[in-house]
This record gives sequence, C-alpha cells and structure tokens, in this order.
Amino acid sequence: MPSTIRTTTLPSGEAVPVLGQGTWKMGEDFSRHADEVDALKLGLDLGMTLIDTAEMYASGGAEEVVADAIAGRRDEVFLVSKVLPSNASRAGVPAACDKSLRHLRTDRIDLYLLHWPGSVPLTETVEAFEALKKAGKIRHWGVSNFDTHEMEELVSLPGGGNVQSNQILYNLSQRGPEFDLAPWSRQRGIPLMAYSPVDQGILARNAKLEAIAARHDARPAQLALAWVMAQDGVIAIPKASKQEHIRQNAAALDIKLTPEDLADFDRAFPPPTRKRGLQMI
Ligand SMILES: NC(=O)c1ccc[n+]([C@@H]2O[C@H](COP(=O)([O-])OP(=O)(O)OC[C@H]3O[C@@H](n4cnc5c(N)ncnc54)[C@H](OP(=O)(O)O)[C@@H]3O)[C@@H](O)[C@H]2O)c1
Repeated sequence: MPSTIRTTTLPSGEAVPVLGQGTWKMGEDFSRHADEVDALKLGLDLGMTLIDTAEMYASGGAEEVVADAIAGRRDEVFLVSKVLPSNASRAGVPAACDKSLRHLRTDRIDLYLLHWPGSVPLTETVEAFEALKKAGKIRHWGVSNFDTHEMEELVSLPGGGNVQSNQILYNLSQRGPEFDLAPWSRQRGIPLMAYSPVDQGILARNAKLEAIAARHDARPAQLALAWVMAQDGVIAIPKASKQEHIRQNAAALDIKLTPEDLADFDRAFPPPTRKRGLQMI
C-alpha cells in the first residue's frame, strides 16, 4: 500500500482505505474483460485495495472480473460484495454468499452488504449474516441504501449493532445525507461508503469544478473525489475502467483542499438545509 493512502476505521477496529474501486457495469461485455481486469489490477498497485462488487452486477459477471483481478493477491484486498434484498432470507443469504464466493473464486468476503432494504425482516438477514461470520465465509457485514430511520431500526435489533458500514449515494450533487445520516453515522463510528462519487462521470465534466481543479493542476473528477474523501469517516468507491481514470483517481488522494476550496464547493454545491429522503440509483 503506498504511504499516501489514508484509512478510516470500521467499528471492528479494522482500518480500510478511504479510496476503493467500484465495479458496476463491469462484466457485461467479454470484449472489455481484459481492460476491466487490468484497470482493477492497476488500482490495486496504486493502493486502491478496497474493491466493491455485488451479485447483481452483470448477474455475477462483475464478481468474475474481480476474481481475475485479485487472483494471486487475495490477501492485499478488502473485498466488498452485496446480497440482493430478494435473497436476504435465512436460507437465501447463505446460498447467495456461496454463489458469490464461487464467482469471486475466494473463500471469504471481507464485507457483505444488504444491497437495499427489502421485505424480508431485518432480524432474519442479521441472523444469517452472523451465521456466515461464524462459518468464516464473511468477515464483516453491513448495509446499503439505508436512511437514518432504517439504521435506527437496524441497530435496535439483536446483533444489529455489528453493522460495519452503510453504502449510500453521496457526492457533490447529492449532499442530502449530510443533514442527518452522516452525523448519525459519524457519532456511532460507522463509516459511510459513498457510491457514484463522481456522479457516474457527470462531475468529471462540471464547469464549476474546473475552476477549483485549475488551482490544483488537477481534473474536476479528482476534485469531486478529494471532496468526498475529505469528509470524516467516508470511503469513496469510484468505478473506472480506463487506466487514465484509475491513475487520476489514485492521485486525488494527494490533493490537499484549502479553506478557499471548501467555501467554493459549498457555494457551487450547497449543503442541505433540511431533511431529504436518501436517494438511490
Ligand atoms: N450500493 C448501491 O446501490 C450502488 C449503486 C451504484 C453504484 N454502486 C457502487 O459504486 C461504484 C461507483 O459508482 P458508479 O459506478 O455508479 O459511478 P461513479 O464511480 O461516480 O462514475 C463512474 C463513471 O465515471 C467515469 N470516471 C471514473 N473516474 C473518472 C475520471 N477520473 N475522469 C473522468 N471520468 C471518470 C467512469 O469511466 P470509465 O469506466 O470509462 O473509466 C464511469 O463512466 C459502482 O461501480 C458500484 O460498485 C453501488
């Protein structure tokens, strides 16, 4: 891991990098397989050792891309995958996990998330996660797309306090979580994992960011990432399949935001002044 990589701490005490790699839309087209594998490998070389995937992405195809990228270097990686809400039952979770482990060609997932809240009672899902932990198939579990009231419910359940992270839509254009979910999570030491941190590429073309980026001799996408990573207890997981993007994203770790930058971000992308329901892609 390069010396520049910053980490944040899970409730378990384990340190994880604040910059990882997403994989949504990978594994959909085999003609892009080698490029996607190479992109993830380059990201690992540059210290972005947290990889986020899901059983849903290309119906396991993204997990297979990850398998090729981490082959021979599994111990370097903090591997995150997700179970669909439709598989979140007592019997469904272990079956889905076994399938993901087969696709990932590994014996364990470091952090296994419930992809979004569904209709299976949460107590069942938590029980199944805890059983997978005992079996050594997952090391930690967490959730995704949970708003504050859903987190409140989760932590009130038996074992619910073992949640290690909540992965949510959070970027400069989607600052709603700052109103209550982010402070709630920070207070409890539960890191947020920010998905779509460059708003699916849209922020890479944002004129307001161009001006701030110019001061750092950087690109708008890098400033969008630097801003997310500057938030305490937040992990950014940009997806990039182009090597140039991977290099830029890793270099965003070195950008030191000034008070002037932060004021400009707030002017261009105002923070929330009231509660907005958590958005989801
Ligand atoms: N839990 C959930 O419900 C959920 C939902 C959505 C996403 N996610 C996770 O979060 C990850 C990231 O979110 P996302 O994929 O939606 O969006 P994103 O990371 O904000 O944006 C990805 C897009 O931005 C481009 N990009 C990346 N770095 C760039 C750079 N330096 N300059 C210019 N363009 C750049 C990528 O291009 P190239 O690929 O061409 O390099 C890709 O088109 C996903 O891959 C997935 O793992 C989770």
